[in-house]
Formats: sequence, structure tokens, C-alpha cells
Amino acid sequence: MKTAITEMFGIEHPIIQGGMHFVGFAEMAAAVSNAGGLGIITALTQRTPADLANEIAKCRDMTDKPFGVNITFLPSLTPPDYPAIVEAVIKGGVKVVETAGRNPAQVLPHLKDAGIKVIHKCTSVRHSLKAQDIGCDAVSVDGFECGGHPGEDDVPNMILLPRAADELDIPFVSSGGQADGRSLVASLAMGAQGMNMGTRFIATKEAPVHQNVKDAIVGASELDTRLVMRSLRNTERVLTNEAVERLIIKEKTLGDKLEFADIAEEVAGVYPRIMMEGDMDAGAWSCGMVAGLINDIPTCKELIDRIMKEADEIINQRLAQFSRGTVPA
Ligand SMILES: Cc1cc2nc3c(=O)[nH]c(=O)nc-3n(C[C@H](O)[C@H](O)[C@H](O)COP(=O)(O)O)c2cc1C
Repeated sequence: MKTAITEMFGIEHPIIQGGMHFVGFAEMAAAVSNAGGLGIITALTQRTPADLANEIAKCRDMTDKPFGVNITFLPSLTPPDYPAIVEAVIKGGVKVVETAGRNPAQVLPHLKDAGIKVIHKCTSVRHSLKAQDIGCDAVSVDGFECGGHPGEDDVPNMILLPRAADELDIPFVSSGGQADGRSLVASLAMGAQGMNMGTRFIATKEAPVHQNVKDAIVGASELDTRLVMRSLRNTERVLTNEAVERLIIKEKTLGDKLEFADIAEEVAGVYPRIMMEGDMDAGAWSCGMVAGLINDIPTCKELIDRIMKEADEIINQRLAQFSRGTVPA
């Protein structure tokens, strides 16, 4: 399948693995890229820009296919050294960057000058248009269903994607709630040129996380995520667990008086304990409603091949029947 996204990024299938904290290591990105998608290393998981440079080099040893780097702009009192991160990306010969969080205007000129394609992930039509205006090449449109930060507008992809299609001139991929061939065909039908997946890629053989994390996703239903940190305007969709339920009680009790310090125990620095050690009640970790559609732990290649086969069958058999006027079984 060829789309504006496969052509822009030089990949075989229009499937991207979104940046994921403590998941997006070289092993993850290389496995997705080797399977014909676009794998993405998460810059901020690396302690220093030098570590990021090493992770990029490691990924290059593991695949000769294109892969990207995610640069997330977080609200922070002590911001990461973004110029040094950008330098590591450019020197590492990376050709695609996924930006997220604040708009990437501060780094865009450097990335563009180096010939890097930039796909900005955002949760609204207005932010997508802003990304287009400042010169991003593509957008990842992240609906309310998504794991991680869905923004504050709460617009699900069934509305957000066609709205994006109506407004944008640059290509976009769907993000949030995507899992299988049905997701891909639906995304294409709504105007996207491919799809971005986070949670689905964690439940794969190659994902470099503890088996408990994969099992938790397979065991979860679409009812098992919670939204936290809304009152801080930093809403995050996470999988429920003891720490998350404790956090929600604090939010209810403190209301608008809640400060970050009140919930630091449940959210600050918990990712290594969850992702590496498999301590599933250590704190809040991002997970999408799409967990309800995830029932196995395939390799990335098995997953992507299955998605493409299913998409092809839906387009050429199921949908073709409708347009021929026959009633499918
Ligand atoms: C565990 C986890 C960590 C994530 N970390 C980041 C991150 O650091 N930066 C970012 O831009 N997006 C992050 N995301 C969001 C994903 O890149 C992607 O947009 C999202 O997972 C899509 O929704 P889905 O989980 O329904 O597929 C994370 C998602 C998960 C599940």
C-alpha cells in the first residue's frame, strides 16, 4: 500500500510506532522499522544527548530501514537540553522526527535545514493547523481514546479525523485507538494517510519492557483506563491500578487545590519501575482504551503483516461487496 506517508518517510507500510517513554528504545524502533513500519526512539528516555546519540547508533546497527526520533516538549522547570538533542538527531543521520507537546517552532528550522521530515503529534484541529502553518511536513492526529496525553478537548477520532481532513493540506495519520486492519481502513476512509500506534506496539515480542506490562495490556479491557491530572491541565490516560485509584481519590478530595507535589508519589519517576521491573502498582503509566482490542503478543512483523492483510481483505472483499450492491454475510 502506498500513501503520502509511505512516500514521505520511505517506508513500506503506512504504520508508525509513536514515541513512548521507557518503551521507545532502539530494540522497539528497529523491530517496527524492520517490519516495514516507522519505528521511533524516544529522546527524553535517554538521560543525556550523548546517550541518545548512542541509542541512535545502536538502532542503525539493528536496521537499515528508516527510523525516527520523538522529541517531546514538556512543561518543566528544568527543561531538557533541546538544542543538544536536536544536534544528536542531526549528527545521527535521522531523517524523521516526531514532535509532541508544545509546538516545535523552536527546533523546526534546524531540523528542516538538515533535511529532516517533521511529523507533529497533536490533539486538536487548531494545533494541527498551527503545525502546518509553521512548516511541519505531516501531523499525527491524536484522538481522545489515545494512551498518554489526549489534551483537554475530549474529541474522539470519529470526529477529529474527518475534521482534520476538512482543514489540513498536509498529510496526517490517525493516532489513538488504532490496533488492526479495521483501524487502518477506517483511518484511511476518514482522510488519514496511515496510522500511529502506541499501546498496541507495547504488547509485542520485541517491546523492551517487562512481561508484566505486556500481560497487563492483554488482560485489560476498554473500560480499564482512567484520566488523571485534568485539574492540572495535563490530562493523561493511564491504565488503572492501586496507585491510580489512590491518585483519583486525592484529586477528588483536593479538587482545584491539587498541586503536582500532592501526586508526585504516583506519577514522578515511576516509569523505570513499571517498564523495567514490572512493578505494576508503582504508579500511573500511559495506556490507551485500545487495550480492549489487544489479545495477543505477536512479533512486530506478525502484527504489521496481519494488519496489512486484514486491511486488504476489508477493502477488496467486504467493502467491495457493498459497492457491488451485494449484502455481505
Ligand atoms: C507507555 C506510553 C508512553 C508514551 N510516551 C510518550 C512520549 O514520551 N511522548 C509522546 O509524544 N507520546 C507518548 N505516548 C503516546 C504515543 O506516542 C501515542 O501517541 C499513543 O499511544 C497513541 O494512542 P494508543 O496508545 O491508543 O495507540 C506514550 C504512550 C504510551 C502508551
